[in-house]
Amino acid sequence: MTDTRFADLLERVMGLSAATIGPGAIERAVETRRRETASRDTEAYWALLQASSAEVQQLVEAVVVPETWFFRNPQAFRAMEGDVLGPRLRADPLASARLLSLPCSTGEEAYTMAMALMESGIAPHRFSIEAVDISQPAIDMARAGVYGRNSFRGHELGFRDRYFDPVPHGWALREEVRAPVRFSQGNIFAPGFMAQAGSFDVIFCRNMLIYFDIPRQKQAIAVLRRLLAPDGTLFVGHSEAGLMREEGFVSAGMAMSFAFRRAPEAAIAAPIIAVPARAAIRPVAPKRAAPARMMERDRPVRQAIAYPAAAKVPDLATLRRMADDGRVEEAERGAQAHIRDNGASPDALLLLGLISDAGGQGKAAAHYYRKVLYLDPGNVEALGHLALLLRREGDHAGARLLDERMRRRDERSS
Ligand SMILES: C[S@@+](CC[C@H](N)C(=O)[O-])C[C@H]1O[C@@H](n2cnc3c(N)ncnc32)[C@H](O)[C@@H]1O
Repeated sequence: MTDTRFADLLERVMGLSAATIGPGAIERAVETRRRETASRDTEAYWALLQASSAEVQQLVEAVVVPETWFFRNPQAFRAMEGDVLGPRLRADPLASARLLSLPCSTGEEAYTMAMALMESGIAPHRFSIEAVDISQPAIDMARAGVYGRNSFRGHELGFRDRYFDPVPHGWALREEVRAPVRFSQGNIFAPGFMAQAGSFDVIFCRNMLIYFDIPRQKQAIAVLRRLLAPDGTLFVGHSEAGLMREEGFVSAGMAMSFAFRRAPEAAIAAPIIAVPARAAIRPVAPKRAAPARMMERDRPVRQAIAYPAAAKVPDLATLRRMADDGRVEEAERGAQAHIRDNGASPDALLLLGLISDAGGQGKAAAHYYRKVLYLDPGNVEALGHLALLLRREGDHAGARLLDERMRRRDERSS
């Protein structure tokens, strides 16, 4: 008979679902801790766990997945600054914002929030960032603020020169970025978790809910709802977006950023939440000079499995909603099938461009954006996104040409 005691304990303490990380991962962690604590056998280690909450925390540490890096899914940070906080803070010089990164792991996400705001000219005293994770070593590393190569992925590393100093084993974050961020250790399922914390204008809760089973996901989302200001914005990971709709949130309509707001009460039970397609995939601050800070993940161009020829392909507005809600691969297959059945259209190509961009596939994204502009030279979304992409790849002259095209287009239309 399989011994599920350890998996059950981890589920109870931190919400971890054995099915998502695989029972092998739990067995390995138990075996590592058994050896490290010099426990004679699994029974002895189990007894130790019953007697010591410190050892329970050590077992938690052995199973957490701390994978993270700076500017992971750059669209979310762009939307957070360009669509959510930037306009609000610029409109009212006395306003300030509270942000939460939960889970923050080793701190890259929280510090990226700070850099994203600072790059757009928002002074650090205008915002504060709370950052929480269950792992104490992760929090210690975050506080130390020294990062190795693994935290900097992709080609655009300009932000590293602007905000870090080289040190013998990596790069040390400068004080100006560290100042607005406060780290603490915490478990989202602990009774009274952040009970006194008040509410946050922006919460990033990315790549944690996927490790929980459904009841724990619901419990965690209830905590997030309590911590989110009534008009706040919650960013989740792309594979977590589908969950949010079932839990009373609606897409905030920011392309590929997997951002959600509380649903109006009446909409909670509705199976499909109508988001106007135009609003859902609007360019993220296309006219402003985009800070050169986004990163790309080095991974091969994803091949979406083809849509079956006989299947009914959803219309483009539905496909856009799917993509914004995190059903990215389905949306990608749908857009390709749409082109197969109806020929290439600017909207279908734009959607493929946005999906590639969100997946860190800059070359493919640029290719699609250029195709849109070939068919529709004044397409403001393609102009805006391609300009951002070129800037982050260091092609400032190319980006300026697109800005200029956008300006001329605006003049003509006004
Ligand atoms: C993959 S990292 C995500 C980091 C970052 N949000 C990102 O997307 O790059 C997952 C983190 O969730 C944390 N975690 C897991 N269960 C938790 C819980 N119950 N409460 C708080 N943090 C938890 C882990 O310690 C780990 O650092």
